[in-house]
Amino acid sequence: MVPAGDPHLVRLAGVSLRYGRRVILDDVTLSFSPGEVVGLFGPGGSGKTQLLKLMATLRHPHRGVVELFGQRIARLDRRGLAAARSHIGLQFQNFALFDFLNVRENVGFSLDHGRKMSSEAISQRVAEVLAKVGLDGTQGMEVEALSGGMRRRVAIARVMAARPAIAFFDDPVAGLDPVNSAKIMRMLSAYAQEAHSLVVIATHDLQRLFPVVTRLVGLFDGQVLYDGPQEAVYDSPRPYIRDFVFAATEPQREVQKS
Ligand SMILES: Nc1ncnc2c1ncn2[C@@H]1O[C@H](COP(=O)(O)OP(=O)(O)OP(=O)(O)O)[C@@H](O)[C@H]1O
Ligand SMILES: [Mg+2]
Repeated sequence: MVPAGDPHLVRLAGVSLRYGRRVILDDVTLSFSPGEVVGLFGPGGSGKTQLLKLMATLRHPHRGVVELFGQRIARLDRRGLAAARSHIGLQFQNFALFDFLNVRENVGFSLDHGRKMSSEAISQRVAEVLAKVGLDGTQGMEVEALSGGMRRRVAIARVMAARPAIAFFDDPVAGLDPVNSAKIMRMLSAYAQEAHSLVVIATHDLQRLFPVVTRLVGLFDGQVLYDGPQEAVYDSPRPYIRDFVFAATEPQREVQKS
């Protein structure tokens, strides 16, 4: 679906989003390419979730241009928008699982509805992604029987099952233990490589995030205040950015020092 000559899967130019008078995203300009693993960080309420929803076409900017697969989304008709959406996955921060479906039906949902795959092939794909998130054999479980951490991992598996070219993960490891958090982060990064997809991960767990990303974007009060490699973030000219990442990764740095 990417037009020849356009290396970007997502492009935002001068994008602002408002709720009433409140500015949620402020003049955001960013482009993302296939294979990138982007870590999106910033304080609670800085606009990470709104930015992911906007890129997933679930929010419309009040100003600026959003392009997906080289096409301006404001110019797409319903079919065009549906086609673009079919290549985008978003793991919602609140999971958004269907509580009337079991794990197999949740994870295979977009494959069951719309794609021409045999039910055996779908079951195989579902088993594959469930194994990746450490939930082998949970296909028959009802959503209400899952713990919070299990729900989160089912939501992650649901995104990967459809092999989207653009995959957004909103707080994928919140509440998970450190070992599983590190595993999930590595798996998301491996997904980007295997599928040559764009992966964007919004998280507060910078310790687990930093080892897997190819790029960091820092969002503060709806503005992009950092966009660059992970290694350079500690040398950002903005003290606010440096303080934030130092505070978020201090224990790790202490351990490395000792
Ligand atoms: N429907 C809405 N109406 C008004 N304001 C909203 C709405 N949805 C979100 N906001 C505001 O947008 C801002 C950004 O919220 P967002 O959820 O994107 O933050 P976040 O960076 O994802 O935070 P967290 O790290 O806690 O997940 C917040 O101030 C929030 O109150
Ligand atoms: Mg959020």
